[in-house]
Amino acid sequence: MSGMSQVRRGTLHGILMGTALLLVACGSGQDGKSAVSAPPPPAANPAIQKIYGSTCSACHGKPGTGAPQAGDVKAWAPRVAQGKEVVTGHIINGYKGMPPMGMCMQCSEDDFIAVTEYMSGARLQ
Ligand code: HEC
Repeated sequence: MSGMSQVRRGTLHGILMGTALLLVACGSGQDGKSAVSAPPPPAANPAIQKIYGSTCSACHGKPGTGAPQAGDVKAWAPRVAQGKEVVTGHIINGYKGMPPMGMCMQCSEDDFIAVTEYMSGARLQ
């Protein structure tokens, strides 16, 4: 019966993500400006957190910029659903108010994907 007590990796990840999103939800709206005003918990990968914090967060962590906000799963869902290829193309080439490369000129495609997955709380496929 030992298998029963083991927390599967996927489940644990789900729980962690759920907790992270709950924290975002709980911290939101305190300034009354936006549904998602609190910064999401730091990304698990410090390098990704750094990229987010130094570039993407200027818009994706700032309500009113027109950018889907980090931690706003609902806003990200239809974008993520476009698929990895389309989304990555939009990041690299720019897309409406989204500047090419998200203004991170030294970022790799993998970086963009990782940061987007962090901001959206979803997996790009
Ligand atoms: C100067 C502001 C700004 C910066 C900096 C920025 N973004 Fe964006 N981003 C936007 C806006 C605005 C949109 C929404 C565009 C639209 O659909 O109108 C967007 C949309 C996106 C999308 C969704 C594209 C789609 O297909 O719907 C992704 C993914 C994204 N940004 C990733 C990033 C990443 C990763 C970074 C950092 C490397 C970044 N952005 C930096 C403004 C910004």
